[in-house]
Amino acid sequence: MRRGLDESAADSVEPVDLRVGIPHSARMYDYWLGGKTNFPPDRALGEAFEEAIPSIKVMARENRRFLGRAVRHLAGEAGIRQFLDIGTGIPTEGNTHEVAQAVAADSRVVYVDNDPIVLAHARALMDSTGSGRTAYIHADLLESEAILTDPVLTRTLDLSRPVGLTLVAVLMLVADEDDPWGRARILMDALAPGSYVAITHPGRDFDPIAMAAVVEAAGKGQMTLVPRTRDEVARFFGDWELLEPGVVPVMAWRPDGEPPADPTAAYYWSGVARKR
Ligand SMILES: C[S@@+](CC[C@H](N)C(=O)[O-])C[C@H]1O[C@@H](n2cnc3c(N)ncnc32)[C@H](O)[C@@H]1O
Repeated sequence: MRRGLDESAADSVEPVDLRVGIPHSARMYDYWLGGKTNFPPDRALGEAFEEAIPSIKVMARENRRFLGRAVRHLAGEAGIRQFLDIGTGIPTEGNTHEVAQAVAADSRVVYVDNDPIVLAHARALMDSTGSGRTAYIHADLLESEAILTDPVLTRTLDLSRPVGLTLVAVLMLVADEDDPWGRARILMDALAPGSYVAITHPGRDFDPIAMAAVVEAAGKGQMTLVPRTRDEVARFFGDWELLEPGVVPVMAWRPDGEPPADPTAAYYWSGVARKR
């Protein structure tokens, strides 16, 4: 069931069923990032992934760093003041509104996630400073049309003006048969020219054997996980104009400081594109 929260309603979160007996991607990611919002099944699956990919925690951090660099670029050079962050994750360091509002205090962010634990923590995302605003919608990416017309979104974002859409480490949790490309396209089509989309996605082509082991572990934990090839990830951007350096390993996307010695060490594809 969809539920929206903005600053005025942030105190009225009803109790939610966290389903702590099965692993959740948000909590497993939190475990890799060193957070405290995770339970034994999340940690057990997180460790099974780590067995196949020993550097998985570094990869999670590199993915998170990309989010920071991309949002900083959008709020800075690109002049974006509104963000739609789908697949938000459990609040942690460098949430989208914190990064954007550090650059431009009036930035507005709508967060969307389908995990009840993210809903339970949504209040931590409602701490805008200055003239900025944040709101949260508990919804599934599969309901992209409903997200776009949700009153919480339309009260917070003006879709006639450019938006920075982030789909960071979320599309791999949507199976091919649920058409992640079509869902992303519905969101992208609704945005004004001059909007941007930032995407990261685990790549199947970095280490196919390790990825196959991780997919198998995910299946045993009842979690959908679909690593994709660079071409499959590039398709998400459609005809939008890719910013330099294109679709690249996440560590190679405009790194802060010195370029990494081996950018393929984190198995995520990444890119940012602009709607013409
Ligand atoms: C790996 S975390 C990524 C968090 C954050 N975007 C980042 O990169 O740091 C994936 C998040 O996507 C959420 N998610 C998974 N499937 C989703 C769906 N179909 N619709 C909305 N959110 C989803 C999960 O609950 C989780 O919080």
